[in-house]
Amino acid sequence: MTPDLLSNIDLLTEAIRLSNLAYLAAALLFVLALAGLSKQTTAQRGNWFGIAGMVLAVGATILRAVAVSAADPTGQHPAALTLMLILLAMSIGAVIGVLRARTVQMTGMPELIALLHSFVGLAAVLIGFGSAIEPHGITPDMETFHLVEVYLGIFIGAITFTGSITAFLKLSGKVKGAPLMLPARHLLNLIALLMVLGLGIVYVGSGGSGVLGWLSLLAMTGIALAIGVHMVAAIGGGDMPVVVSMLNSYSGWAAAAAGFMLGSPLLIIVGALVGSSGAYLSYLMCKAMNRSFVSVILGGFGSDGGAPAGGDDGEHAPHTETSAEQTAQVLQAAKKVVITPGYGMAVAQAQYPVADLAKKLRASGVDVTFAIHPVAGRLPGHMNVLLAEAKVPYDIVLEMDEVNDDFAEVDVVLVIGANDTVNPIAEQPGSPITGMPVLKVWEAGHVIVFKRSMGAGYAGVQNPLFFHERTDMLLGDAKASVDAINAAL
Ligand code: TAP
Repeated sequence: MTPDLLSNIDLLTEAIRLSNLAYLAAALLFVLALAGLSKQTTAQRGNWFGIAGMVLAVGATILRAVAVSAADPTGQHPAALTLMLILLAMSIGAVIGVLRARTVQMTGMPELIALLHSFVGLAAVLIGFGSAIEPHGITPDMETFHLVEVYLGIFIGAITFTGSITAFLKLSGKVKGAPLMLPARHLLNLIALLMVLGLGIVYVGSGGSGVLGWLSLLAMTGIALAIGVHMVAAIGGGDMPVVVSMLNSYSGWAAAAAGFMLGSPLLIIVGALVGSSGAYLSYLMCKAMNRSFVSVILGGFGSDGGAPAGGDDGEHAPHTETSAEQTAQVLQAAKKVVITPGYGMAVAQAQYPVADLAKKLRASGVDVTFAIHPVAGRLPGHMNVLLAEAKVPYDIVLEMDEVNDDFAEVDVVLVIGANDTVNPIAEQPGSPITGMPVLKVWEAGHVIVFKRSMGAGYAGVQNPLFFHERTDMLLGDAKASVDAINAAL
């Protein structure tokens, strides 16, 4: 060994020691980030912890990769070239990421997130095949474990990849949002899973090599890709929020699987954090929507026995319309006002005038609170983010459970761009949103609904609230309407 190489090996030992320490610190920072993100008041701090953890993790990984190249006795991977390639790949990714993040609308976030999850899935599949083609440092006693981790990693990654792409296409409206109801779909899923199990036994039995090994791995990948599409295609109606958080969880497990294949404890920790927090979020979403987790995953909710998308039986009493000026008068006379925002407030970017309106009313002695449905908008916490952005005080932003029994004591409810989340039809059998708890705004003295037309909401169900005797419709863009009320006040 040359003295140069020897000193490079010393450097490598030092780099591994340092990077291990950095990984430990990064893992702690990620835990703190999650803890911070659990409350609005500490969310910003949580984000900073996350950013610091990621900078540390990426820096340590680059240091490690460069040191490994420098200590390579074959000299096939010059350290400078390794560094250059990493920086080049990161710069391309950073430019695309920054451009996309700057241009994405808040309402387009769910589909962007779904797309990003698909990258994690694809990365796990590619790492799996890389590890199958060229296993590094695998001793004979680790061989079976390695084969299982490759097989599972590719399986989870492939489902995450196509599932996320399908969710992206559905959420962005590029394919129909209605659930795909194949006949005997549960049986199809079961057969696919049994085939995956059988092929796994063949793969491990063949030692992962030879025609049999490769064929079984490729066949399983094809089946997993199909399961991903089918699983998400079968979910529809108002259950899409669960899909977003479920895929978030899958992407975590895919990253953890990649961590096992790459021998990266940090990736395993981060993957497990994302996987378990995503699973918990999915559970909370299901609870909020009164759905069983298993039924949502198996698909088909959101359509069974429900009205067709956009369905309206046309049997409604005529609706009554109001104006911004009349609304301003009603608000001035009210003592207690609740604002229930929804997806339309995000589309109209009405959160700033809405915050102004709340401020004005509060200043004149009206008791104003916001009531937030857990799946209002298109993202978990979507409305909370918008209201925080517009500097609405946290203490007047209440969760559904905190207000739902008190609507009878409310003088006026302003429903700003919300629809499914205030739809009383959810309390009757046979609709796509049946069973989902909704904000009982119709119990209030007076309801004013801000939207542009009499059309249905996300789940495609007509809303009897609009035709209720105590409801007035303020038709038009929500921002323009609230601006006009502010002017009138
Ligand atoms: P939605 O049911 O989506 O209804 C939003 C309403 O906003 C529409 O009826 C629309 O009516 C109106 N609107 C759109 N643009 C507007 C504008 N510029 N000004 C005024 N109104 C406007 O809203 P929601 O009550 O928030 O319910 C959310 C739905 O999305 C639920 O079904 C939920 O399951 C689903 N979902 C939620 C998530 C998460 S995690 N939150 C994720 C995916 C799906 P017009 O067109 O007549 O104006």
